[in-house]
Amino acid sequence: MSDATRKILVTSALPYANGSLHLGHLLEQIQTDIWVRFQKLRGHNCTYVCADDAHGTAIMLKAEQMGITPEALIDEVNAEHRQDTADFLVRFDNYYSTHSPENKHYSELIYNRLKAKGHIAERTIVQAYDPVKNLFLADRFIKGTCPRCKADDQYGDNCEACGATYTPAELINPRSAISGATPVNKESTHFFFKLPEFDAFLKEWTRSGTLQNEVANKLAEWLESGLQEWDISRDAPYFGFEIPGEKDKFFYVWLDAPIGYMASFQDYCNREGVDFDEFWNKDSNAELYHFIGKDIISFHSLFWPSMLHAADFRTPTAVNAHGFLTVNGKKMSKSRGTFIKARTYLDHLDPEYLRYYFAAKLTSSVDDLDLNLEDFVQRVNSDLVGKVVNIASRCAGFISKKFDGALADTDAAPELTAEFQAAAETIAQYYEKREYGRAIRDIMALADKANQYIADKAPWVLAKQEGMEAEVQAVCTAGINLFRLLIVYLKPVLPQLAERSEAFLQDQLNWASAETLLLGSRISTFTALLTRVEMDKVNAMIDASKEEQAAATAPAVKGPLADEPIAETIDIADFAKLDLRVALIAKAEHVEGAEKLLRLTLDLGGETRNVFSGIKSAYKPEDLEGKLTIMIANLAPRKMKFGLSEGMVLAAGPGGKDLWLLEPHAGAQPGMRIK
Ligand code: MSP
Ligand code: ZN
Repeated sequence: MSDATRKILVTSALPYANGSLHLGHLLEQIQTDIWVRFQKLRGHNCTYVCADDAHGTAIMLKAEQMGITPEALIDEVNAEHRQDTADFLVRFDNYYSTHSPENKHYSELIYNRLKAKGHIAERTIVQAYDPVKNLFLADRFIKGTCPRCKADDQYGDNCEACGATYTPAELINPRSAISGATPVNKESTHFFFKLPEFDAFLKEWTRSGTLQNEVANKLAEWLESGLQEWDISRDAPYFGFEIPGEKDKFFYVWLDAPIGYMASFQDYCNREGVDFDEFWNKDSNAELYHFIGKDIISFHSLFWPSMLHAADFRTPTAVNAHGFLTVNGKKMSKSRGTFIKARTYLDHLDPEYLRYYFAAKLTSSVDDLDLNLEDFVQRVNSDLVGKVVNIASRCAGFISKKFDGALADTDAAPELTAEFQAAAETIAQYYEKREYGRAIRDIMALADKANQYIADKAPWVLAKQEGMEAEVQAVCTAGINLFRLLIVYLKPVLPQLAERSEAFLQDQLNWASAETLLLGSRISTFTALLTRVEMDKVNAMIDASKEEQAAATAPAVKGPLADEPIAETIDIADFAKLDLRVALIAKAEHVEGAEKLLRLTLDLGGETRNVFSGIKSAYKPEDLEGKLTIMIANLAPRKMKFGLSEGMVLAAGPGGKDLWLLEPHAGAQPGMRIK
């Protein structure tokens, strides 16, 4: 065990709250989680926080598209993200949201300090503006024809066809990607963080051991070519925090996103009674580490440390950047089915397989990491099932059957045991330095030695010889102890395998457990600790990813049955849960600002409901009033942008003008149950 207890705060980058997590996000979170679990096993005070990055135009527009409020969207996504990460055994001490009072507090505090010290500039800029949507357009919301190769439908900053980079003004026939309108130029006042004032600070900070060498070298190039002021404001409408003292000006999402690390930690402190300042004060002796992907290095190693420094907070101890996940040697692709969502993986495979595979390939560099699916199956099966678990399964049976679960009192392989124990410090250093691949390589080399020992001693042969009982017990006890040491070293990567092993060994493992042995105690009967990965399951996961992609791009109103796979079967109990009622449309009205929705007031024979229904293209409100229709009466109320929707009316048809509300039999009365 190391000398002193360290105080460590660790973060992973905050995933955007507008979509599901995929295996790329999991690469980062698993890398971080392994490091955190390792520190905790070493006895350090280590806290791991994260959150959803909930602000910005993309989230605002997505919520609008779905007809719900941004708050409702980010709540839904937050619940999904929490479940996905938990199921991958990523154990946050806190998972929060940047749309929180704590984050508002720290964003305002930091901004006000920067402003008070003169680090904020204000000036007017000209920007593309969507005159229909009344919205300033970021480059990626402008599309048009590439000025170089004339490819159509290219983004405002670069061409996917020929790779040219340009400004939106150079696009031929530019259009707003949101409304299709031709953008106009419009002036607006923006606020800037004067980054060039931190040039000297950054030259020092980026070279003080805070960054990987390759990253520091890249930043040195940027610093050489000169820093620009950073635009930290956005105009309304924007989903975010309003800038104090200004009207209709919001903090750019990337200003409050990293402050979300502080906010999540503050929320943790409030709950756990921990002292926030001890970790964030300028003179804090705690360590602070950010794990991030290589695409967001500039935010974390230029803007963020400068902001912290300027606002009198401590700066990060280190920013640990990793590369991107590729699958079968290529960028993740929706059409190839290799853009794999966290949930799709979990539907088919054990999370520990992926944790192990990532660990076996992770280094401390920013190189990309490839998930080769054949190699994945082969590696997990041969290492974990074939080597590690095999040691226990070859020894356990003899101990349970012949010795009633009792281990021998002395170690029959002291030299081998000593070699295993001596490896603890090297392996620990590999974890510490994020060289997990090297740690795994050493652990598997030890596993080979343990298997060799058992093969040489062949307890199954000894067991058949007379008078060799003690020898069988001794050999199997040594084997089980070697297995136990391997599990200690693998515990940061494979917490569930470790837990099952602990139940089997009747022991609790932390890093210091490597200094001791299990002698003279009892173990439980051996049950399978891990099953083999099947290539079939991997293929099923790829097929499912392809199907999701097809479903996601399908039109909103589904075509004939032949074009659309029938959804997963539900049983009669699921069906019985639907409470279908006859409803009288008492009132139907237009909804201000909604293109597709009508607001319906439904009479259920005594009770009234407010329901928003996307049938405006097919019905005039006045034609609906007085009609009877059928509704799902027990659908959970949903917060939409325009108000609460308390149920859903049933309609059929291909869409557009051809959409018919279902009507009940002539004798129906409002409130009557259908079925
Ligand atoms: N919201 C910002 C981060 C704000 S941190 C204050 C963001 N979100 S993200 O959802 O796009 O990405 C979250 C993290 O996942 C980033 O570190 C990003 O690099 C990482 N990854 C996203 N796709 C990835 C791969 N394909 N491979 C590995 N990591 C990837 O950026
Ligand atoms: Zn082009």
